Amino acid sequence: MRAIVHDRYGSPDVLRLEEVERPVPGDDEVLVKVHATTVTRTDCHMRAASPFFWRFMLGLLRPRRRILGLEFSGVVETVGAAVTEFGPGDRVFGLRNGSHAEYVCVREAGLLAHMPAAVTFAEAAAVCDGMSQGLAGLRSGRVGQGTRLLVYGASGSCGTAAVQLAAYLGAHVTAVCNGKNAELVRSLGADEVIDYERDDFTKNGETYDVILDAVGKHSLLRARGSLVPRGLYVATDRLYNFPLAYLTKWIGKKKVVFDVTGYQRDDVLLLKELIEAGRYRAVIDRTYPLEDVVEATRYVESWQKTGNVVLTLNGAIR
Ligand SMILES: NC(=O)c1ccc[n+]([C@@H]2O[C@H](COP(=O)([O-])OP(=O)(O)OC[C@H]3O[C@@H](n4cnc5c(N)ncnc54)[C@H](OP(=O)(O)O)[C@@H]3O)[C@@H](O)[C@H]2O)c1
Repeated sequence: MRAIVHDRYGSPDVLRLEEVERPVPGDDEVLVKVHATTVTRTDCHMRAASPFFWRFMLGLLRPRRRILGLEFSGVVETVGAAVTEFGPGDRVFGLRNGSHAEYVCVREAGLLAHMPAAVTFAEAAAVCDGMSQGLAGLRSGRVGQGTRLLVYGASGSCGTAAVQLAAYLGAHVTAVCNGKNAELVRSLGADEVIDYERDDFTKNGETYDVILDAVGKHSLLRARGSLVPRGLYVATDRLYNFPLAYLTKWIGKKKVVFDVTGYQRDDVLLLKELIEAGRYRAVIDRTYPLEDVVEATRYVESWQKTGNVVLTLNGAIR
């Protein structure tokens, strides 16, 4: 099968298309023919081994896992003998390492679900990663009905997910993004939008119960004046937020929280329900064929993408 591989850490140019062996499903696994996948920020961190700690998980000198990719959608090709919920021909989506390939094997009990009706493969591939990150942030910020929430970086993958999920949970959402994305984030459920090029939310006198930095470009230090006295600053990036989360547990009233729970099967199932109920949708910026992965990755690394960047395979996006 065709797959995107890399044998060393580095710039997007280390990625290349190669013929590799097709995986064989175990008894409890499903073999999925992938129709769409994405380039996420996590793929970029892993490919570049940046920050350095990725090397402790992926291989100190070179990547042990040659194929990147986390999100996928596609059609079940074959199933293992013990699989009961899925059968050949089912349209499925989910999360699995190594999805920048024509086929992936996924455990039936893993991060896998039937595709919601009426979404395309591209849309189904572009929902799980940002949603997992966004939902984890909202949970750790204890966001619910009436929470005054500010989402910084509301137009990225994690940001567009967080805005939709927070609106679903009944929060009052203020979204901070570039003015060109204001209409988009409003359509996703933001009650108020602040254009960061025109206004600095830290200087407008408003306060929030929770500030979610969905893009890893703000800090508690700069934003603390915009939090209510026992407010929470939810981080999604920047290693210094780990010690800060620990320190602010004991010192000061305003806390940093940083969720590292990781992907949950129940979240993928919840997402399917939300999409079917019309409460969640994929935000796709650009779509590239798999073989243009280097160009797609460069675009993701420009920090200019809105929502998600999709790679398509097998010529099918519907
Ligand atoms: N995606 C995930 O699911 C995931 C998973 C694990 C970790 N993370 C972490 O979560 C963070 C966000 O990832 P992501 O994939 O959601 O990012 P992303 O989609 O690549 O973010 C792109 C967005 O960032 C906004 N942006 C760029 N510079 C900005 C700035 N200085 N101030 C405010 N907004 C700015 C841009 O918005 P405008 O065009 O409006 O400026 C653009 O829409 C990253 O730090 C990543 O490491 C994400």
